[in-house]
Amino acid sequence: MRKIIIDTDPGQDDAVAILLALASPELEVLGITAVAGNVPLDLTARNARIVTELAGRPEVPVFAGCDRPLSRKLVTAEHVHGRTGLDGPVLPDPTVPLQDTHAVDFLIETLRAEPEGSVTLCALGPLTNIAAAFARAPDIAPRIAEIVLMGGAYFEVGNITPAAEFNIYVDPEAAQAVFRAGVPLTVLPLDVTHKALVTTARNDAFRALGTPVGRAVAEMTDFFERFDKEKYGSNGAPLHDPCVTAYLLAPELFSGRHINVEIETVSDLTRGMTVADWWGVTDRPANATFIGDLDADGFFALLTERLGRLRG
Ligand code: BDR
Ligand code: CA
Repeated sequence: MRKIIIDTDPGQDDAVAILLALASPELEVLGITAVAGNVPLDLTARNARIVTELAGRPEVPVFAGCDRPLSRKLVTAEHVHGRTGLDGPVLPDPTVPLQDTHAVDFLIETLRAEPEGSVTLCALGPLTNIAAAFARAPDIAPRIAEIVLMGGAYFEVGNITPAAEFNIYVDPEAAQAVFRAGVPLTVLPLDVTHKALVTTARNDAFRALGTPVGRAVAEMTDFFERFDKEKYGSNGAPLHDPCVTAYLLAPELFSGRHINVEIETVSDLTRGMTVADWWGVTDRPANATFIGDLDADGFFALLTERLGRLRG
């Protein structure tokens, strides 16, 4: 069983990523660390607990982390995710309390306590918590098995500005620290997540599970898809963050290249751009596996089957 920590800013697609992890016996979720991103921290920490309860896994601890980027004002995405971040289904308020420990302390303590190379970080939001942990405890980076994150773009360029993807844009300094940390890194950019589209048939399959989880995921998608349909004319909602969990479970569904990726932190125009050397035109050393393609039918078969296991 692979030990993971999910760092997240739920977000409907974060919620589905968490549900997929909690449904999968191959993964042991040591904790969920919330960060400010799609909505402010109080809401992301609340939403993470709503999701653990929806999954019937209230024992999975949720920690609140950084309430703003390392050195910038928080930018949020209510225009995509709604006022709560989890608009769509009507879900009960969480009853499990937040942990007292700060998410950054939890990351540091856990990575020091667990055997070296045994914990994978799954990052689904701005990278503030992880970068803050690296800054405070540089000894933890070499102890991490791998970081698998949703963020950035290459051919697809940007979704929050013409040049940048939301997670990297919100805290580019944090992203730069993570991309330069020397930790094995796998990146699921927009190029691949825009291929994980919930078509009507795929959403019907979630609903047809006939469970509270299936209904909630279908209703989250009903809400979440309107942004991409109206804005980009896309054929359904892109399930960005579940690509991270699916990559851990079935890497054979994905393909990419091990390349150099740098983060733009200086220019206002291209802030948060992932400058990905896909064609190897520089001699900068490779620091990330940048995923470019996925088997979408295989991805949705896996996701639907796993969500069907959650009867909570
Ligand atoms: C990313 O930004 C957020 O809106 C989503 O949850 C995802 O993590 C996509 O750009
Ligand atoms: Ca997210």
